[in-house]
Amino acid sequence: YGTSSANEKGHLTIGEVDTIELARQYGTPLYVYDVALIRERARGFKQTFERLGVTAQVAYASKAFSSIAMIQLIEEEGLSLDVVSGGELYTAIKAGFPAKRIHFHGNNKSAEEITMALDYGIGCFVVDNFHEMNLLQSLCERKQVKASILIRVTPGIEAHTHDYILTGQEDSKFGFDLHNGQAQEALNHALNNQSLHLMGLHCHIGSQIFETTGFIKAAEKMIQKLAEWHEEYQFTSEVLNLGGGFGIRYTKEDTPIAPSNYVEDIIGEVKRMMGEKGLNMPEIWIEPGRSLVGDAGTTLYTIGSTKEVPDIRTYLAVDGGMSDNIRPALYDARYEAVIANKPEAKRENTVSIAGKCCESGDMLIWDLPIAQASPGDILAVFCTGAYGYAMANNYNRIARPAVVFVENGNASLVIKRETNEDLLRLDVPLHKTV
Ligand code: LLP
Repeated sequence: YGTSSANEKGHLTIGEVDTIELARQYGTPLYVYDVALIRERARGFKQTFERLGVTAQVAYASKAFSSIAMIQLIEEEGLSLDVVSGGELYTAIKAGFPAKRIHFHGNNKSAEEITMALDYGIGCFVVDNFHEMNLLQSLCERKQVKASILIRVTPGIEAHTHDYILTGQEDSKFGFDLHNGQAQEALNHALNNQSLHLMGLHCHIGSQIFETTGFIKAAEKMIQKLAEWHEEYQFTSEVLNLGGGFGIRYTKEDTPIAPSNYVEDIIGEVKRMMGEKGLNMPEIWIEPGRSLVGDAGTTLYTIGSTKEVPDIRTYLAVDGGMSDNIRPALYDARYEAVIANKPEAKRENTVSIAGKCCESGDMLIWDLPIAQASPGDILAVFCTGAYGYAMANNYNRIARPAVVFVENGNASLVIKRETNEDLLRLDVPLHKTV
């Protein structure tokens, strides 16, 4: 995975840093991000568009992993940013990210969040529903400002992925239905509104998608509508946002195509279809999250207790679990892992990796082929960079892990480990405390 390999001590290294040293220095569980790999992915997307001669904005979907350092890295690479809440927006602004390159998503943005975004002067609101459109309009009027918007549509595409991360189908909480007149009504509304500047359409069909067919079908449906709307309203879309969702390889069963191939395939078709309809090629926006950071993240855990269930399985428990990675419990997500202090040792056992939370479903990996492990060994779980730390929680009042960035042999702490004191920060006692 990425720049991981083994050093002369036989330890797993990431970004040329010894993971056992990292575990010693920062403690476990620890999230380790391979910065070179994130840069490579970011450049890969940008260069593909350049090679195709298509003007584009690659917006990192910061829900996958947001922190000040992460946003600064995205800024260094010249990408744009997708935020979905006041919290993500605030993080971006505090990181010094240029507001003009921020796109604001969400199916229930509050008046406070919209106000904050207008005050910062963000680049674009991706409007999800009529309530939001009215709210945005009235807030713009009050402030005497104009907001640029995209209309989010649901094109009625069923992508093949887990139900919880499907978003483009008709029966979805997101967006205006493209086919029953809703999207057209939204278009009309936006075009007749002095406070709103309609830049174009957005859709996102789902996440962890391995094929380009769904993206192309969604684009086809949107382009068909754009052609109709061009006729009827002389509306020209400046932007076509195709969302994120490009899949990555968590285990060898996963068969995604290379990130740049997704773009090449999809954009080739978009160009062709726009040409067929006699429409000008709009600026293309995409919003990758997982495919930018997913395989750049590795979680290090310390192995503790074991339990044998004779003839059935061996449970090996680590010092984290669903509190730092809820994806296995929530989506039945699969991961690969090795023992970081001997990644090349023969994987002659099969064990199931349990977390430490009081919940039977707190299992990280079932039936993992692994080398002989003992308490104190470090387990490295790969591909945890997207929706891992981002979905971490304090179940059982377990403190959230620390996060380090590694690159060219150097490590830097980018999120501190939570302390027990941090866990009490918001508590208001009934009585005087000790
Ligand atoms: N754009 C929109 C509008 C989205 O809703 C999402 C993800 C993305 C972009 C980025 O998708 P990506 O490239 O990361 O697939 N927690 C789930 C994933 C939820 C995705 C939600 N939306 C997981 O852990 O798999």
